Amino acid sequence: MAKLQPVRGTRDIWGDDVKRFSYVVDRFRSVAERFCFQEIQTPIFEFTDVFKRTLGEASDVVSKEMYTFEDRGGEQLTLRPEYTAGIARAYQSEGMQQFGTVKLFGYGPMFRYERPQKGRYRQFHQIDVEILGAPEPSADVEIIALAHRLLCDLGVMNDVTLHLNSLGDVESRQAYRAALVDYFTQHADQLSDDSKDRLEKNPLRILDSKNEGDRALLPDAPKLGDYLNETSKSFFENVKAGLDALGIPYVLDQNLVRGLDYYSHTAFEFITETLGAQGTVIGGGRYDGLIEMMGGNPTPGIGFAGGIERLAMMVDNMPEAARPVVLIPMGDDAEAKAMAIADDLRAHGLVVDMGYRGNLKKRLKRANQQNASFAMILGEDELARGVVTLRNLDDGEQKDVAFADLLSALT
Ligand code: HAM
Repeated sequence: MAKLQPVRGTRDIWGDDVKRFSYVVDRFRSVAERFCFQEIQTPIFEFTDVFKRTLGEASDVVSKEMYTFEDRGGEQLTLRPEYTAGIARAYQSEGMQQFGTVKLFGYGPMFRYERPQKGRYRQFHQIDVEILGAPEPSADVEIIALAHRLLCDLGVMNDVTLHLNSLGDVESRQAYRAALVDYFTQHADQLSDDSKDRLEKNPLRILDSKNEGDRALLPDAPKLGDYLNETSKSFFENVKAGLDALGIPYVLDQNLVRGLDYYSHTAFEFITETLGAQGTVIGGGRYDGLIEMMGGNPTPGIGFAGGIERLAMMVDNMPEAARPVVLIPMGDDAEAKAMAIADDLRAHGLVVDMGYRGNLKKRLKRANQQNASFAMILGEDELARGVVTLRNLDDGEQKDVAFADLLSALT
């Protein structure tokens, strides 16, 4: 018999947690729909190549975090570690090219074999938006504006800062990469083992190393901004101008490189100080080469994903849930009638519970614990008279209300 506890890095989401979780998803759906995005749900597992080819062999996700397995038919499959590659796969396999630009949103569980800590899990959940087929900087602005609107709607924008950078186009990045390799090679003896490895595979990742020795080298390292060619510079200027026009504040962060290899041009993260070490609540950017990496026609893309658990932890102004009303039938006949009353009230949109067990006092106590607004007591006597005793649980007042008048008494 397996141990009766969730697997390390996974958790049951219930009680207050699931309310916050659903609140984030509901607000997200509402914002995404207001921005005219269409929902897409992709499968939770894909062929391993979908992720391996696109996220970068040297990225942490591909090199050490994927849940990859062979199924009974001998296929190499991977539980999705993120949404973007699956959506890019769907864009091609569903023939979405015919629609030109598509704006998609989705949410659901992701899987990464990371070291669990507060805000970091092995099964976690993302909200995700992507615009495919739009090369314009205004698409980048729209994506960031959507993230900003969501954070405002959730009431957490005051606690986060938008970090913004440009990774430039392929030409700019190659020039920068060469300069970085030069610089870090000269200081190779001061680099951590991980970064020595990165120096060969993906030197840009050294810029977001957490190792202190590595970090000491950063102030004098070449800056990406100095290597952007004219096309990349003007693209970035347009993105910044668009954000300025909307009054969306940001800080420029030259060390923001993102953890996945598919990015070009705009890269951004919304970061909070309130959650401790795992402070990035939303991360995204442009990925113009991704669909080509999968073997498709060149197709620009831009999007972001947000960690639902992290956003849910930040929310603290959740709207009050509707208060229930509770029926308390005493006796078998009353119970049958109470069922019918409950069904009718529910059909009219009320939240109704049934207090079945225990003496009247116990049942009323339980209704109070549920934060019910009214109790409707239905005993033999009430049943005979065609009424319930309607008790206001806030002030204790009670009166008889005929069955036919109940709905209007409660709304
Ligand atoms: P990412 O930065 O890897 O980007 O993840 C996005 C967000 O997911 C993070 O900012 C964080 O809030 C959340 N997250 C990531 N890993 C965990 C974890 N282990 N536990 C809890 N939350 C986590 C992407 O996934 C890209 N696909 C984003 C994107 C979309 N870029 C373009 N389009």
